[in-house]
Amino acid sequence: MNNFSDFLLVRRSVTAKKMQPIEVKDEHLQKIISAGIRVPDHGALAPWKVTVFKDKEREKFGKNFLGKRFRELNPNATEDEVLFEENRFLRAGVVISVISSPVEHRKIPIWEMQLSSAAVCQNILISAQSLGYAAQWLTEWYSYDDFIIKSLGASSNDKISGFIYIGGKNEQPKERTRPIHSKIVSYWKGD
Ligand SMILES: Cc1cc2nc3c(=O)[nH]c(=O)nc-3n(C[C@H](O)[C@H](O)[C@H](O)COP(=O)(O)O)c2cc1C
Repeated sequence: MNNFSDFLLVRRSVTAKKMQPIEVKDEHLQKIISAGIRVPDHGALAPWKVTVFKDKEREKFGKNFLGKRFRELNPNATEDEVLFEENRFLRAGVVISVISSPVEHRKIPIWEMQLSSAAVCQNILISAQSLGYAAQWLTEWYSYDDFIIKSLGASSNDKISGFIYIGGKNEQPKERTRPIHSKIVSYWKGD
């Protein structure tokens, strides 16, 4: 591969289900986060919150928040189902949550701040993948749950843009269906 553009043409996400919860080197994590927050951001407002879950904290968040909340929402859930929720973050070595946290601005619309938050997610994802890690951008049920959103220190206008799971891969993922250029892209020919 000659350059980053070639990498973007072949990179793939590895599902959290298939990744290995290997340690993400601190040096790599710092790089991934720095790349993550180096994104286009109209007005340099930095309207995001980034939280890293690693080591024992992955399990603690699972037990104290994901599992607990899941049980509350699903009183008939089996112990296995609750255990799965408690262990969600243990599927990865590191999980990074990205919250869109728009600020008041007289000119810049909230939509643009939210778009910038998606760029943070994408940069984290491709930075981790470019370093050879397995990574996936997930929202799942807990991104839309008020209790979980609050537990991450989010305020009322905030939304979770995603959780980026980062781990190791055992095998290269198979290609998935990709969009057909001609159906998506057109070249404007006007007068
Ligand atoms: C905002 C957002 C949320 C997503 N949430 C989920 C999810 O909850 N569950 C899931 O299976 N895939 C989810 N995906 C899709 C996965 O990230 C999927 O692996 C990805 O689209 C594969 O693309 P890639 O191989 O081009 O990276 C989400 C994608 C985005 C952009």
